[in-house]
Amino acid sequence: MYSLRELRREDIPIINKWRNDPELISHLGAPFRYINEEVDMLWYDNYMKNRNSTVRLAMTDESNVILGLASLTNIDNINRSCTAHFMIGEAVNRGKGLGTFAIKEILKHAFMNLNLNRVELSLLSTNTVIYLYKKIGFTVEGTKRKAAFKNGSYVDVIEMAMLKEDYYEKYEKD
Ligand SMILES: CC(C)(COP(=O)(O)OP(=O)(O)OC[C@H]1O[C@@H](n2cnc3c(N)ncnc32)[C@H](O)[C@@H]1OP(=O)(O)O)[C@@H](O)C(=O)NCCC(=O)NCCS
Repeated sequence: MYSLRELRREDIPIINKWRNDPELISHLGAPFRYINEEVDMLWYDNYMKNRNSTVRLAMTDESNVILGLASLTNIDNINRSCTAHFMIGEAVNRGKGLGTFAIKEILKHAFMNLNLNRVELSLLSTNTVIYLYKKIGFTVEGTKRKAAFKNGSYVDVIEMAMLKEDYYEKYEKD
């Protein structure tokens, strides 16, 4: 059984290992950087100081060990919007339903608890996971041409979003 819980300091060494994995980072918009653990500890400290505008959750199974990260950043209390990010650390844990669970669960949190109205996300045009986001209910809103420099070339970045009304229509209608 999968669940989400807030990120803990003890998760940082595992996350640091993932962030130094070129294969995983190749799927994401952010560039690959060598990151030492101290930098990731500071990143965590910064999150602790900014919990009003950021939600960082660990995806876990029964063992409660972190398997992936699900986050809401840039929480904007005037426009009621935020940006979502998802990653599962080890390839062996992908494709088994964990991502679907985590995405739906954090959307529920965003719309039903935080009273947000819009959840945005960006993904590389090379990332086939767009299929999953569409299935969950995100809409493509546009393409930023050559917006990311990845592995030596520029890649288009696709912008997607889900509104609270889309969420209600799909998941809360009955
Ligand atoms: C994206 C990610 C979080 C999805 O989580 P997941 O647990 O692998 O996805 P699920 O097992 O819930 O997949 C659900 C469906 O999406 C499909 N799917 C998942 N990832 C896919 C991918 N990269 N390409 C194509 N289809 C994908 C699955 O085949 C499955 O389809 P089905 O329901 O028709 O059988 C995870 O694969 C991951 O961390 N990937 C690397 C990082 C990344 O790309 N993050 C997203 C950046 S925007």
